[in-house]
Amino acid sequence: MTWHTTGGTGRDLAALVASMTLDEKASLSAGTDTWHTAAVPRLGVPAVKMTDGPNGARGATGADHLSLTTSVCIPSASALGATWDPAMVAQASGAVARQAREKSARVLLAPTVNLHRHPLWGRNFEAFSEDPFLTGRLAAAYIRAVQAEGVVATVKHLVCNETEHERRMCSSEVDERTLRELYLLPFEMAVKEAGVLAVMTSYNRLNGRYLADDARLLSDVLRGEWGFEGLVMTDWWALASTVDAAVAGLDIEMPGPGRAFGPALADAVRRGEVDESRLDDIAGRILGVFERVGALDDPGDGTEAPSDNEEDRAMARRVAAESMVLLANDGLLPLEPSSLSSIALIGPAAHRLALMGGGSARVRPHYSLSLAEALAARLGGSVRLLVEPGCALAGDASEAGAALDDEGALARAVEAARSADVAVVVVGTNDFWESESYDRTSMDLPGAQAELVRRVTAANPATVVVLNTGAPVSLPFAGQARALLQCWFGGLELAHALVDVLVGDAEPGGRLPVTLPVRVEHTPAFGNFPAEASEVRYGEGQLVGYRWYQARHLPVSFPFGHGLSYTTMRVGPVRASTGRLDEGGSLSLEVEVENTGARPGSEVVQVYVAPPGGGVASPGRPFRATRALKGFAKVRLAPGERTTVRIELNERSFAYYDVADTEWPELLERLGGVDRDRSPSFHRSESGWYVDPGTYQVEVGRSCEDIVARVGVEVVGRTGPIPRNAPVG
Ligand code: BGC
Repeated sequence: MTWHTTGGTGRDLAALVASMTLDEKASLSAGTDTWHTAAVPRLGVPAVKMTDGPNGARGATGADHLSLTTSVCIPSASALGATWDPAMVAQASGAVARQAREKSARVLLAPTVNLHRHPLWGRNFEAFSEDPFLTGRLAAAYIRAVQAEGVVATVKHLVCNETEHERRMCSSEVDERTLRELYLLPFEMAVKEAGVLAVMTSYNRLNGRYLADDARLLSDVLRGEWGFEGLVMTDWWALASTVDAAVAGLDIEMPGPGRAFGPALADAVRRGEVDESRLDDIAGRILGVFERVGALDDPGDGTEAPSDNEEDRAMARRVAAESMVLLANDGLLPLEPSSLSSIALIGPAAHRLALMGGGSARVRPHYSLSLAEALAARLGGSVRLLVEPGCALAGDASEAGAALDDEGALARAVEAARSADVAVVVVGTNDFWESESYDRTSMDLPGAQAELVRRVTAANPATVVVLNTGAPVSLPFAGQARALLQCWFGGLELAHALVDVLVGDAEPGGRLPVTLPVRVEHTPAFGNFPAEASEVRYGEGQLVGYRWYQARHLPVSFPFGHGLSYTTMRVGPVRASTGRLDEGGSLSLEVEVENTGARPGSEVVQVYVAPPGGGVASPGRPFRATRALKGFAKVRLAPGERTTVRIELNERSFAYYDVADTEWPELLERLGGVDRDRSPSFHRSESGWYVDPGTYQVEVGRSCEDIVARVGVEVVGRTGPIPRNAPVG
């Protein structure tokens, strides 16, 4: 048995489980209502409360959104992804976990680690990145900080939940290598790097099988290969089977009362369809996880008394600024308030910024502040502020989007822009356009916003365009705007943080965690999104995100990893601790970074690995992406300051997942071996992570397209697979 018995009081869980009746054990396997697990009062086992994340601890849902208790609302995950900073992510998720405790919850339903496979997935804002390594590293930091506060983190949704379209029915059709290298990798890192205590299965099916019933994934991979000791729960109302799910390794059906688990599971055990030892295992795992965070002794008093404090406000403001990506700037930013007499603040978001996306991630923030208010407060009375929405965020039910005559509103905005020294136009989406339960149908900005940007930039060339979205939108004006800033769904301090960045009180510290494509037709999953006949074909295979654009030499609006700064940095030289990687070895890369400008700033050193042959498949070798992210580090430097960044790589940084070809010996025999010499492929008999020998390029870049240095590494390789419990990188 591999239950968690450490932490908490060290009570004897095996004895506790042994003292339970069959019905008591089974009662633990289902919730009792939307958010609580079952109590066993006779034995002092309390009910434990769960709450959604990821960008806040929502608390128990009331009749409507406004009856929720308020929350700190941190920037959404795509913004966190843009920080490229595990420490910053940890600060943010730690605050969410403390708020979960204040709402008497000991389980947080976060983080979401599905990938940005297609820009129109409704929940992209809730996920970190298109890259699995960046996702996994940041998720691990998120999880560690949550669990350090005595809250169980729940990594979700296992796995390949990258569309909302018919999400409870669709089957994601994915080959094993892609599954391992892309979609499972963040889950593997959450288990191995962060010791995540809970996993949520997704609504969708994977290759025809519901995830809650998938024994290979839940038992063989998650527990067997990765050593996961926590509990597995369903997504809400996702469970339909009793025996298959129990045997597969599922532990809790949510929400309650149980339909397939709970009493139904007790009956299945009585009928002999599920062994009672599995029920012991379920009870032991659940109790072990709760014991581990101290929830058996202190489940909370059931109240929701969230605090709105200065520390959280300052954190949310810092993280939001650190996530903003300066896409383009010809010197217009930062604005110098003392040299300005007027600013035109334009766009539907000027009155109401989008702080988060819609669906289960939606929280009720402690407060909200408009950009106009924040800007006015910063500028005092010295700069005249002309505020014009310009157009409605069509589909927005809020007052910001109601009451606008299109041509008149556009004309007033253009006039304001023309008469001001500088125009700031904020365009984007909101929690109506980007939400759980449905995907977007277009990458275009809703309503007349693109036209608004076109007219405003024409009226006043000194225009800053700000993108308030959780995911990529079309940027027909990318070449026109003198300054273009992606501010994401930046949480409850977004207005202050945006002002900080606009006037240079803070550096725009973000780098793109996703490629911004030129058009949706260029995107990897175009043609395979969302689904056909209940199947989502992951036909692009491993070529997700930048891997696709690079392999196909497709132009992009802005590449993965890109982001400008208000200062200048020198990156390099680069030294590797060794030029040769032996079996079981590792190497560390030292990269010098110097702030050569006049302002404090940050740099994200990105390390990519390029396989021998530049990724073009040679006969018999597996196809490899041109380059893939395998390490990164963010540094902040004062003007003139210099530092050395260290990034570690190991065998997994150079490896790929090879699926056993068990039919090969038979095929050879059938041909009598005639083709043997002309077929130099590897046909392995054991699936696993393999490293081929050869000279790999370790590339240091400031984006996936801006590589500033390369170091050749001779990789010795190995014949067998890398041990399954080896760390990812
Ligand atoms: C979402 C989960 C969420 C759950 C509980 C589901 O609809 O997919 O992410 O945690 O609801 O609100």
